Amino acid sequence: MTTPDVLRGLWPGAPTPNLLGDGLLSPDPATVPASAPATVPTPASASAPVADPAVPDAHPAQFTGLPGQTAAFSPELARRDVPILHRTVNGHPLVWLDNGATTQKPRQVIEALAGFYGSANSNIHRGAHTMAREATEAYEAGRSAVAQFLGAPSPDDIVFVRGTTEAINLVAQTWGRANLGPGDDILVPVLEHHSNIVPWQLIAQQTRARVVPVPLQPDGQIDLTAYDDLLSMRTQLVALSQASNVLGTVPPVREMTALAHRYGAKVLVDGAQAVAHFPVDVQDLDADFYVFSGHKLYAPTGIGALYVKPEIMRDMAPWQGGGNMIESVDFTRTTYAPVPHLLEAGTGHISGVVGLLAALNWLTSFDRDAIAAYETSLMAYAQQALATVPGLELLGSAPDRIAVLTFTLAGHDPSEIAAWLDRDGIAIRAGHHCAQPALAHYGLASAARASLALYNTSEEVDKLVASLQQLQQAA
Ligand code: ALA
Repeated sequence: MTTPDVLRGLWPGAPTPNLLGDGLLSPDPATVPASAPATVPTPASASAPVADPAVPDAHPAQFTGLPGQTAAFSPELARRDVPILHRTVNGHPLVWLDNGATTQKPRQVIEALAGFYGSANSNIHRGAHTMAREATEAYEAGRSAVAQFLGAPSPDDIVFVRGTTEAINLVAQTWGRANLGPGDDILVPVLEHHSNIVPWQLIAQQTRARVVPVPLQPDGQIDLTAYDDLLSMRTQLVALSQASNVLGTVPPVREMTALAHRYGAKVLVDGAQAVAHFPVDVQDLDADFYVFSGHKLYAPTGIGALYVKPEIMRDMAPWQGGGNMIESVDFTRTTYAPVPHLLEAGTGHISGVVGLLAALNWLTSFDRDAIAAYETSLMAYAQQALATVPGLELLGSAPDRIAVLTFTLAGHDPSEIAAWLDRDGIAIRAGHHCAQPALAHYGLASAARASLALYNTSEEVDKLVASLQQLQQAA
């Protein structure tokens, strides 16, 4: 396998150690027949060539998603980069419609991880050697990339975390512990994922604050009149998603944030389901906190980011204690590193940051407005097609939505629907979607969900619909 250009851009001069085996990273999916059996990754030890002892110097990556550098977008172009989409499941080409749970990874991300471990692995910050300096530069290049991706004023506004859940818990346990007290309100829409409810319940119990649910309308939009009524001088925080993982609803976050600010409340925006689908600008939103997970954005699992507005970041108290977050340690007095390092105790997920940077470069290499327009049109197509399945009911019909299609099918339990589709190689999620209050709004405990991404196609939607039709006919 030859070194792909994108990896040369990521680690100039560094060859690609073929750690994954030639079979997995087929350069041209057109060469993979639709009926090809699933490719099983070859264990590295079995097929990897012995590394050239004279591997050239590696250099840290840079964010390339700058205005004017984007290429045209098509789902076929994106699919070509994502090897897993060319495998089969149960004898059928994989149809991955579980993107709300996690997205599949382009080869650029997979190769960045292999490239890092093959030629650049080191811990960061504390090592007095070239490799440590290079790894540090790569890690900080990742921080700069996230800042640019989110429109944050500075890389110092970005904290690396495991993902959205950890970011929200961090804010609850640092900012929340310092700023919440008896009688204070935390407003949380009924729409939210459990990760944006439970951390607030925990800190509310500890500080004797209250978590106040903001109701939904029948179509899955947040009831803005109720929101307005619930806001008061007691409101210290509003925690809301920029896109719902279960209904797809995209609330008017900028307007809701402006309203909260009139009462002096802070606003945390959960961008886990938003960042992969449309461009985000935290300054335009005027968000106080913005959080997302890399793995829903074509990056590896275990890495995510928290943006904190600079004036709030300045006052953030330490969360976890350990290495990397201190200036000096003494049994009489320990002094701390400045933010954002103050909030990153221990060794960070360095390769995860390298993979995240590769994912941001991949995603932003396409015209993001074109991606959003494509996904919206694919959702409209899917809605119409699903409406032809007897007994199928879609949940949520807010006018502004991401391509999440949650549904029930008369006569079938959601887990049965998912198992049936799996036999045809179609992956969807069934269950409560970690959003039990949102499902309860519809009187449900469980539902089936197809969640679309930039590499999904109308042919895949047709396969979903055909399989559901067959399920109904078989019943
Ligand atoms: N939050 C992820 C989902 O919605 C796991 O599936």
